[in-house]
Amino acid sequence: MRPIRKIAMIGATGMLGIPIALALVEAGFEVTALVRDPERARRALPAAITVAQADVSDEESLRQGLAGQDGLYLNLSVGPNARRCDFHTEEQGLQHIIAAAKDANVARIAYLSALVHDTPRSRWWVLGLWRQALGRVKASGIPYTIFYPTNFMETLAQRHTAGRYFLMLGRSQYRNYWIAGSDFGAQVARSFALPSSANREYIVQGPEALTYDEAAMRYCRAPLPPRRLVRIPLWMVRVGGLFSRTLHFDARIMETVLRYPEVFKAQETWAELGTPTTTIEQFAKRGVRSVS
Ligand SMILES: NC(=O)c1ccc[n+]([C@@H]2O[C@H](COP(=O)([O-])OP(=O)(O)OC[C@H]3O[C@@H](n4cnc5c(N)ncnc54)[C@H](OP(=O)(O)O)[C@@H]3O)[C@@H](O)[C@H]2O)c1
Repeated sequence: MRPIRKIAMIGATGMLGIPIALALVEAGFEVTALVRDPERARRALPAAITVAQADVSDEESLRQGLAGQDGLYLNLSVGPNARRCDFHTEEQGLQHIIAAAKDANVARIAYLSALVHDTPRSRWWVLGLWRQALGRVKASGIPYTIFYPTNFMETLAQRHTAGRYFLMLGRSQYRNYWIAGSDFGAQVARSFALPSSANREYIVQGPEALTYDEAAMRYCRAPLPPRRLVRIPLWMVRVGGLFSRTLHFDARIMETVLRYPEVFKAQETWAELGTPTTTIEQFAKRGVRSVS
């Protein structure tokens, strides 16, 4: 297999795209972000990252963006307003991406999935869509690396925090091995450098097992003055979900995450791709990694 030097990213501007883009640049890769709005992306991404226009709904734009690239990292998502019948980046978009990546002779495709993708007995269409996407990546014929991460610490900062307030939806039952995007980014970078990471699937977990509540409380206490945790029962969010698609999505994703009986399975990932070390306090003090 040819060595990977140039990596294209789709979703580089996303919450979990930015820390991975930074880690890939730090590891010495040439990174190109394929984005819908280059001007907006230029403001969000560091100067070391090349920005090119492409949209996953437009296969030709992907073909042009992927020309000459060795690797492709996919940070795709289902938006909180999405309906099953919409166009999805991980469904129709992924078909375009795979076709264009094959034409461009991309040597490795890395895909960010989620640990909760295999939640038993869930009939939520989003999980079905994720599982279908995994099947497509594996059947693409392109050497792949798939990541199944637990909860990211970025979620605490960017999905729950509003000024001095932290909104906690529901109550946790199990512990999760929270991971910082920067630690995961270092693992992604290592996987692109390792030929043996081709056609591999990695469980991604961080150093410490904490319930959502414990993680939220530690995140809230880290800064001075501390953030105020406001708890909203899940039933209330579910009722709100009858009137708002976003609240419906929030209720479903929180139900899925809070009820997932996570166990530690990242030994192999740590041995091959490096050991995550960032604690919630270190993450909270450092803040979300931003562009320099
Ligand atoms: N939060 C967690 O703890 C967690 C845990 C495990 C797994 N995950 C998974 O992580 C994934 C990524 O999450 P995220 O929060 O980073 O998502 P996000 O912030 O919504 O980012 C999505 C990215 O996709 C890009 N995009 C959307 N439509 C596009 C199109 N038509 N063409 C090209 N690019 C397009 C967006 O670019 P624009 O700038 O153009 O909008 C954005 O950069 C999700 O699938 C999630 O399930 C999350």
